[in-house]
Amino acid sequence: NNAFVVGGKSFTAVAINCAAKAGEWIMTKLGNYASLEIKYSEHDLVTEVDKGSERLIRKLIATHFPHHSFLGEEGCEPGPEASAKALEEASDSEYLWIVDPIDGTTNFVHGFPFFCVSIALAYRGEIIVGVVYDPVRDELFVAEKGKGAYVHGRRMQVSEDRTLKEGLIATGLPAEREHALPVNLRGIAELASQVRNLRVAGSAALHLAYVAAGRLSGFWEIGLNSWDMAAGVLLIQESGGIVTDTKGDTYSLGVRNVAASNGYLHDELLAALKKAEAAGS
Ligand code: IPD
Ligand code: CA
Ligand code: CA
Ligand code: CA
Repeated sequence: NNAFVVGGKSFTAVAINCAAKAGEWIMTKLGNYASLEIKYSEHDLVTEVDKGSERLIRKLIATHFPHHSFLGEEGCEPGPEASAKALEEASDSEYLWIVDPIDGTTNFVHGFPFFCVSIALAYRGEIIVGVVYDPVRDELFVAEKGKGAYVHGRRMQVSEDRTLKEGLIATGLPAEREHALPVNLRGIAELASQVRNLRVAGSAALHLAYVAAGRLSGFWEIGLNSWDMAAGVLLIQESGGIVTDTKGDTYSLGVRNVAASNGYLHDELLAALKKAEAAGS
C-alpha cells in the first residue's frame, strides 16, 4: 500500500516530469519572452512564459489524474483576496495540485538566474509531495511526506547553525508596498544586526528549498501565497527543519506570513520578527 501511487501512477513521478518539461521550456524563453504584463501592481509581473508553463503543467496533470483539483497562480485573479478565495474554494478537494509555474518572474524577466518551478500535491489539505526545480542549475528538489527530501538524489539535511549570529537568512520584498513592505523592512532592520548576513534573491520557493538543503539557515516573508510555499514547506519538514507562520503558529496552506528554519534558531528568528512587529505599533 503506497500512498504516492494510485492506479499504477506515481504522483511524484508526474510532478517531476511536469517540473522538468516546464523548466526545459522556460529555459528556451530566457532572455526571449514576448509579452510582459503588469498584474496587481507594478511590482507584480507576468509573461506569456508564466502562463504557458502553467498550461503545460495543468494539461499533463489532467491527463494522468483527471479527477484531481488544480490551483495555479496564473489561473487566479491577481491580489491577495482573490488568491485566498481560490484556495478556500479548492480546500475541500481530496487531491489538490498547487503550482507556481515560475517562482521568481522578476528574475526571469531580468535574466537574473534564480527562479524555479514549484509543484505540490495536497491530500485533504496535507502536503504529500513537493517538487521544486531550478532549470538554470538543473537542480531538482523532491520530497515525499514521511520519506525524506532529496536533491540530485541525495538526502537533504538542514544546516546545523545554532544561532542567528551564525546564520545566513533570506527574505523577500513583498509586491504589496503599502502595508507588507514596511512590516518586512522593519524585520530586515532588526535581523540585519543579528545575523551573519541576509539574502534577498527573489524566489520564495528556491529560498525554502535552500533552507532544506542547508544552504540557508532560515527564511521569512510577509504576504506569500500557497503556491509560493507548498512544495518548499514539505522539503524543509522532510529535511529536519521547521515551518510556522511569523507568529509561531503551525503552518497550513492558508498561511501568508511564513518563518522557516533549521529549527535551532527558529525561536530567535520569531523573537526578532516579533520585536520588529512591535516597533511598528
Ligand atoms: C514571488 C517571488 C518573490 C517573492 C514574492 C513572490 P512570483 O513570486 O517568490 O521572491 O518575494 O512575494 O510573489 O510572482 O515570482 O511567482
Ligand atoms: Ca507572480
Ligand atoms: Ca511565486
Ligand atoms: Ca509565479
